[in-house]
Amino acid sequence: ARLSVRDALGARSTNGERVKVQGWIRSVRSQKEVLFLHVNDGSSLESLQVVADSSFDSRELAFGSSVEVQGQLVKSPSKKQNVELKAEKIEIVGNCDAKAFPLKYKERHPLEYLRQYPHLRCRTNALGSILRIRSEATAAIHSFFKPSSKIKVPEENFFNVPAFLTVSGQLHLEVMSGAFTQVFTFGPTFRAENSQSRRHLAEFYMVEAEISFVESLQDLMQVMEGLFKTATMMVLSNCTEDVELCHKFIAPGQKDRLEHMLKNNFLIISYTEAVEILKQASQNFTFTPEWGVDLHTEHEKYLVKHCGNIPVFVINYPLALKPFYMRDNEDGPQHTVAAVDLLVPGVGELFGGSLREERYHFLEQQLARSGLTEAYQWYLDLRRFGSVPHGGFGMGFERYLQCILGIDNIKDVIPFPRFTHSCVL
Ligand code: 4AD
Ligand code: MG
Repeated sequence: ARLSVRDALGARSTNGERVKVQGWIRSVRSQKEVLFLHVNDGSSLESLQVVADSSFDSRELAFGSSVEVQGQLVKSPSKKQNVELKAEKIEIVGNCDAKAFPLKYKERHPLEYLRQYPHLRCRTNALGSILRIRSEATAAIHSFFKPSSKIKVPEENFFNVPAFLTVSGQLHLEVMSGAFTQVFTFGPTFRAENSQSRRHLAEFYMVEAEISFVESLQDLMQVMEGLFKTATMMVLSNCTEDVELCHKFIAPGQKDRLEHMLKNNFLIISYTEAVEILKQASQNFTFTPEWGVDLHTEHEKYLVKHCGNIPVFVINYPLALKPFYMRDNEDGPQHTVAAVDLLVPGVGELFGGSLREERYHFLEQQLARSGLTEAYQWYLDLRRFGSVPHGGFGMGFERYLQCILGIDNIKDVIPFPRFTHSCVL
């Protein structure tokens, strides 16, 4: 039977069953009588030890080559692993020219180096772990929403009409929440962003949720915190080894920082309070904090530190800073809207969301202010025909992975990063 490395390592019985394992050679060690190979197929961080006698030609068996090994699964005499594969037949599937191969045997390549080889870096432990975690986190997010999900929103229409790359699925989600009450979508979104940033991509994945009959930011924030914590607990329990590798080798200290985030209740401050805090420390900043001006990354990072490295919701932003669809707080001269951003350690803004303006006349005014009245008649219709209070949010999936794993550069948590001048591969 063909087994993945993961299944072979986890085999219950090791009474010499005959199995076939396929993968890439991670190490070759030859002793007088025996030859040890480690074979990895991406199904787990750990590789499978293959033991062969010296009749096998070890020159052929190079680091990076792909192989198919048939043999018997036996209990390993060594303490390092439970199971090993006693080879009866080893077949080279594809050779690997070690001299030209950018990945070097036994070397721990820095992430910046690996970034030059998006087509090969997934063969390393580091990217292997990150991308297995990414996959598990996707599943965790889907399962968090599953009880409430009725429909996934198609993002594009390419038939005879101009199609646009979406920057957010929000407005379409609002249509759906107007029929299915609670909906989410999880897919690629596109923005023209500066490639120098360590937290922006031109194509990133966003989790967006929209909930009808929600009347307060409190309720919305509870879902956001629940999503973050529940998905993270799932990833931690399903990807223990991979997370350990990241926390040990890529971001030392991150394990404790993450635990700190998980065990504390997230904090809440208003935009106005945030600006007051920042003003007290204005000598630290390149951009002077001021009411009515957007928060810069440096401000976000300061606020998170100030809050003891616990994620913090910043709520009620100036109306003038926010898009037309956010709900007016009607709070006098300072005039804010019911917006919420979640700021997290290491990353800054992770979530953005708001209550939506469900009142026809308020929305009509906001559309007029933005010069969008004509294009958004359909959106106004939602407020004419059975409008309900509702709200929603979006979470940047890559920033989420950066936050839980402590990965500094967003380009290292997505298989093929697309950014300015680099949307080729
Ligand atoms: O704050 P944003 O722009 O919010 C929206 O798009 C809302 N319409 C979402 C909603 O309410 N349904 O984006 C949401 C999140 C940000 O907080 C950030 O984490 C991430 O998406 N994000 C990016 N991630 C990577 N690269 C970029 N260029 C990003 N732009 C936003
Ligand atoms: Mg935002």
